[in-house]
Amino acid sequence: MTGGPTWFPVALSIDVPSHSPTGTYLHGEPIVLWRDPAGAVHAWADRCPHRGMQLSLGFLREGRLACPYHGWRYDAEGRCTHIPAHPEVVPPRAMSVERLGARESQAIVWAATGDASISAPAAVEQWRPIRSVTARRSASAVQDALASSMPGLDIEGDALPFPGSGLMVHSVAAGKFGLALQPLGPDLTAVHAVHCGDASVRDLIAFSRRLADLRDACESMRFSSRA
Ligand code: FES
Repeated sequence: MTGGPTWFPVALSIDVPSHSPTGTYLHGEPIVLWRDPAGAVHAWADRCPHRGMQLSLGFLREGRLACPYHGWRYDAEGRCTHIPAHPEVVPPRAMSVERLGARESQAIVWAATGDASISAPAAVEQWRPIRSVTARRSASAVQDALASSMPGLDIEGDALPFPGSGLMVHSVAAGKFGLALQPLGPDLTAVHAVHCGDASVRDLIAFSRRLADLRDACESMRFSSRA
């Protein structure tokens, strides 16, 4: 996929509800995630073209994302379709939100800058979400901590639908645990955990706790790191 978009994890799929937008970050820039009536996920710059209000604080109306300030509504193409103060006006095409690529795979929402029109194959495996945790450490420090505590952690980049996404995979008898790192800031990283295979609920809870313990250990500097 040389020259195509590089995809980055921005949320677990279950954390992007169908009834309201949610905000997060990509490369330190605020973005808004939301679903259209068909359930397709969209990732946009979290900035209303009118006066810059955060669209993640907005709401959904008639399948459009509405800004909380003056209520301008944007369709799935990012185009403004309705201005409440001037309902008779057909907004010009230039009144559009900056869109990013957005895909779902492995129970994770991925976002990309660049030419996101390039189609991506669907994941062949069935993944389930576990949880997301946020660590007050850099992504590289968190990655080091994960590598220290889970020997054999592989980055299956070439085997993933989105090369470059860097999902780390920890294989166990009951399948695979996937860990996707999302830098939220210089010293703040989200870890999105998913599973593929036959793990029991007990196994998933145990892994979830292990992840939280790892986060605590990472924050208390009990792991050496590059950061
Ligand atoms: S700032 Fe969004 S509609 Fe005015």
